[in-house]
Amino acid sequence: MPRLPTSLLRRARHEHSLLPLLFRTCRDLPSARNELRWLREHILETASPKSPPSTRHQRLYELCLQRSKGKPLQYILGSQPFGNLEILCKPGVLIPRPETDLLTTHLAQTLLSYPPLPPTIHILDLCTGTGCIPLLLHSLLHPSIPHPHIHIHGIDISPLAMSLARKNLHHNTRHLHPSSQISFQQADIFDTEWLNGIKAESSKKWKWDILISNPPYISPHAFNNGSTARSVRNYEPKIALVPTTPTYSSTDAPETGGDMFYPRLLHIANELQVGVFVVEVADMAQAKRVVGMVRERGAWEGVEVWRDFPEQGGRDGTGEVVEVDGRDGRDVRVRGEGEGRAVVAWREGWGGVFEG
Ligand SMILES: C[S@@+](CC[C@H](N)C(=O)[O-])C[C@H]1O[C@@H](n2cnc3c(N)ncnc32)[C@H](O)[C@@H]1O
Repeated sequence: MPRLPTSLLRRARHEHSLLPLLFRTCRDLPSARNELRWLREHILETASPKSPPSTRHQRLYELCLQRSKGKPLQYILGSQPFGNLEILCKPGVLIPRPETDLLTTHLAQTLLSYPPLPPTIHILDLCTGTGCIPLLLHSLLHPSIPHPHIHIHGIDISPLAMSLARKNLHHNTRHLHPSSQISFQQADIFDTEWLNGIKAESSKKWKWDILISNPPYISPHAFNNGSTARSVRNYEPKIALVPTTPTYSSTDAPETGGDMFYPRLLHIANELQVGVFVVEVADMAQAKRVVGMVRERGAWEGVEVWRDFPEQGGRDGTGEVVEVDGRDGRDVRVRGEGEGRAVVAWREGWGGVFEG
C-alpha cells in the first residue's frame, strides 16, 4: 500500500484531529471527510442529549479507531442503503453489496417491463442473509402490480441472519404492501427434509415463479491467497463468503472451489419447477461455468449472463455473445457492462420477459 504524503496528513490533522485516523482505511481526503461526517451524525442521533461534549468526542474517537482498524462502516453505523430501503447490518451477517442492489433492481425492472405478470408471484430467496434481496424485490414490484399479491420466502442457515432479516422486514414496512406474505426460515439448503417441506408447501395449486440466490461463491483458494479484501476476511462471516459443503474436497481445482452451491441451487430449481432462476456469481469465468451447469441440468428455455451494470447497452437483444467453455461449446448472450455478475435462466412461458 503506498505511503501517504506527510503534507496531506498535516492538512487533514489541521482540519480535524481525527481525520488522519480515518486515512488508514479511506486513503483519500474526500472519503475520510465523508466518513467523519457520517460518524458524527451517528453519534448525534444515538447519544443521549444530556451527554457532555467530552463524552461524545471520546465516542467519536473510539468509532474512528475501530474504523482505522478496518471494521466496515456499515457495522459501525448499523445500516446500509439498498435501493429505496435501509437495511440494518450487524457483525456476523454479510453486508449487502451495491452490485447485488443493481442486480435486484434490474431484475425487478425487467419483470415490470413485460406486463402482465401473474396476479400472484411467488419468490424464493436462498441464502438470504439480511433479507435485502427479497425485501427490495417486493418494494419495487408491488406498487406496479395491479393485484399486488407477492409471496416471498427467504432462507438462511444462520440464526443471526434470520433474526436480522425479520428486523429488516419490520424496519422497512412502509415500503412493503401490508397484505403480502413475507417470511423467513432458518434452514440448510442442502437438507433434504427442508426441500421436501418446501415442495409440499407449493402444492399443485401454485409454483415458485422465481428462485434467486446470492450464495457463498469465493473459492477457499481466492479467500486465502489475498484476493479477498482484508476487512472482508477479518470482519465478515466466512460462512457467507466461502462454500463449506459436504461435496467440497480440498483436491478440487482451486478455481472451482467456489462453485459448490450452484449444482444444489439448480437441483432445487428443477425440483420446484421454478420459472426463473437467478444466481449471483463472482466473475465471468464463474458465470460461464454456471451457464454450463444450467445447460447440463434441467429443461431451461434460455440462459444469459448479466454484468455489474446490466441495464447499460439496452435491451435490444443484441448483447455481446460469449463462447462458453462447456461440453456443448454453445454461445451465451451477455448483457451490460462491468464484471460478470449473474446467470439468469428461464423456462417456457418466461421467454418474453428475458428475450425482449
Ligand atoms: C453471500 S451471502 C448473501 C447474503 C444476502 N443474500 C446478500 O446478498 O447480501 C450468503 C448467505 O448464505 C448463507 N448460507 C451459507 N450456507 C448456507 C446453507 N447451507 N444454507 C442456507 N444458507 C446458507 C450465509 O449465512 C449467508 O447469509
